[in-house]
Amino acid sequence: MEDTAASAQGDNDRCTFRISSNHPAPARAMTFTTLLFDLADGIARITVNRPDKLNALNATVIRELGEAVGRVERENEIRGVILTGAGTKAFVAGADIAEIAGQGPIDGKARALEGQAVFRRLERCGKPVVAAVNGFALGGGCELAMACHLRVAAEQARFGQPEVKLGIGPGYGGTVRLPRLVGKGRALELLLTGRMIDAQEAYRIGLANLVVPGEKLLAESETLLRSILENGPLAVRACLEAVDAGLEMSLDQALLLEANHFGLLSGTADMREGTRAFLEKRRAEFKGV
Ligand code: COA
Repeated sequence: MEDTAASAQGDNDRCTFRISSNHPAPARAMTFTTLLFDLADGIARITVNRPDKLNALNATVIRELGEAVGRVERENEIRGVILTGAGTKAFVAGADIAEIAGQGPIDGKARALEGQAVFRRLERCGKPVVAAVNGFALGGGCELAMACHLRVAAEQARFGQPEVKLGIGPGYGGTVRLPRLVGKGRALELLLTGRMIDAQEAYRIGLANLVVPGEKLLAESETLLRSILENGPLAVRACLEAVDAGLEMSLDQALLLEANHFGLLSGTADMREGTRAFLEKRRAEFKGV
């Protein structure tokens, strides 16, 4: 996991209206054994890289995903993320069953809590995260995709929560995020039967935002992400925070949070620029301040 100082910095960075310093933290060289991390033109591409095990999430992948999210939080140069799996067969085929097989109640709970914390941190990193689902997204893989803000599915992608077939339940948020995304009835059907669904069905029930041919998956995911990154970054961040926090609030509290964001955004140079650009019939140049 991150050292304490880095975690504290991460908490600070999660604040939507943090005054951005013009001195981004120096990029720390990071080497991962189970992930690929590429940064180009503002987009970090994180690839879970255990194709021989269908990118199953073992303890090292979870730890390294936490470190990668820390980097996303810290580095101002990173404006958005695409998360995918290595190879064409799997996004992530779940938690590593070989590891789970030997666990007892205490380490089982600890494994769930650690994975949940990493996924939650990804969900709250303040920058848009798109899952490019290139194949099987099962169990922890479906849960990882659901912790991302949007999901683009390749035609060959398959989604499911098959944990009950193994005599266990979801541990990385499946029972929590799936009903929020697709509704209680559909979520329970998938959770209780362990049935796998194809990309079109995932799209139909609202689990996937888009279905694209496999060979276009990364390009289409990037196009979607870039269409978000063209917008005011503070406004995007506020939307992420308002939806994330607002879903857990009463209607009136959530509306107040939205109004507070609306007011705060009205004090930003980006809002002046965005409205002025509209009136002057030109493209806005947002600075994130
Ligand atoms: N954990 C650990 N290893 C896994 C894995 C997982 N979740 N999913 C796949 N693998 C491994 C297989 O054991 C196999 O390894 P091996 O070649 O060393 O024997 C390799 O990945 C390829 O998988 P395989 O099952 O041979 O591929 P397949 O095409 O026949 O089937 C799946 C693909 C996805 C249907 C099947 O692998 C599967 O059901 N995986 C488990 C899904 C699951 O239950 N996830 C929830 C876990 S809590």
